[in-house]
Amino acid sequence: MKTLITNATVVLPDETLRTAVLVDGTQIAAIDPAIHTAADETVDAAGLHLIPGVIDDQVHFREPGLTHKEDLRHASRACAKGGVTTFLEMPNTVPNATTQQRIDEKLALAADKSLVNYGFYIGATPQNLRDLKAAHRTPGIKIFIGSSTGDLLVDEQDALEAIFAETTLPICAHCEDETTVRANAERYRDSTDVADHSRVRDTAAAMIATQRALDLARRHKHRFHVLHVSTGDETDLLADHAGLITAEACPHHLLLSVDDYPRLGSLAQMNPSLKTTADAERLWQALTDGRIQVIATDHAPHTREEKAAPYPKSPSGMPNVENSLALVLDQVHRGRCTLEQVVHWMCDAPARVWDIVDKGRIAVGYDADLVLVDLNKTATVRNEDQLTKCGWSAWDGVELTGWPVATWVRGQAAFRDGAIVEDCRGGEAVYDHGRGGYWATR
Ligand code: DOR
Repeated sequence: MKTLITNATVVLPDETLRTAVLVDGTQIAAIDPAIHTAADETVDAAGLHLIPGVIDDQVHFREPGLTHKEDLRHASRACAKGGVTTFLEMPNTVPNATTQQRIDEKLALAADKSLVNYGFYIGATPQNLRDLKAAHRTPGIKIFIGSSTGDLLVDEQDALEAIFAETTLPICAHCEDETTVRANAERYRDSTDVADHSRVRDTAAAMIATQRALDLARRHKHRFHVLHVSTGDETDLLADHAGLITAEACPHHLLLSVDDYPRLGSLAQMNPSLKTTADAERLWQALTDGRIQVIATDHAPHTREEKAAPYPKSPSGMPNVENSLALVLDQVHRGRCTLEQVVHWMCDAPARVWDIVDKGRIAVGYDADLVLVDLNKTATVRNEDQLTKCGWSAWDGVELTGWPVATWVRGQAAFRDGAIVEDCRGGEAVYDHGRGGYWATR
């Protein structure tokens, strides 16, 4: 099948220009305004921008085990609608994905159900060093240095030293210091005010754990990615000239703050917690100057009933794969950043960070994971329109300008004309063809 996308303004690695893109099978075959090849389908994209598909390197899709909140089918449809063509999923499912067998089981589920491309992290425990060393077909190792949803936690120094010393896969971590969080939780044990979540999971908790993880990574010279940086102070730790350390920020930490608790209640309850608008400002600054490379969602759905439990029984997490690109494109509309920066943070950088072959860029020979965006489209996020199984968004009622309007996954249309293409099965496992070798060759 050949698809010719004409008249779009295309964001290429080094320039943005009006040209035509020919997709042949699963790949980008040509980029040239004068393509005259006969195609099975021609898409006139005048007035639209063509960008690489978003790679979301931190999602929780709840399958297996927690499928009353989310599952791979609902979540991957939400991805396609949101312009996310590849997701990397976290191991705190039930059972936890802490062995190769569990990873392989998830890969088999996704092969059956996912509309978009996928990869699954292996979770670290204090006991599974052997599994971590033998793991393959996975982006890397996830460590909860500080507990969150589920029971995965590695807090003991000896266990952390061994993981950083003896494994070879890249490591990423949830950095909130367990001791600090527990002491703060004790102090606020009688509170039912969800705003205290940001006092329990405070700046010190984030700083201590991030500092600790960076120290481990630097001493052991281990590739390390700091997940969901939430404080301005952490960004000061991130300047890295050795290519060893990368980091991520999430839309909720960039666009929401502690000031949103009165409006959103526990819908704003996340781990790491929301911080101040000054912290958010410093996260934007770190994205702009390259200390943070990636924007990802930490899509973490819980049902509205679960979220309605009184704090601290309410679980932490919010869904967002469906709206993350629109939220950041809205920032382009507001003049905070450029479309090229968005493509870097959400498409190209995650592919480089996670060593994903032939994705994240519009280039000949790369996979045809493509998204058409309408930078002038204004629409309101509505709970009733959400494809995520949990059926809500923290941005319900918010008007955004800049939306994905069509998504292709490896050359197959997955979302177009406002609807999911139901029989689309373009998605595949991103680590079945080996790693890209980006970090190995630097
Ligand atoms: O708020 C969060 N929820 N943060 C995490 O790190 C985990 C996630 C979840 O799985 O619910």
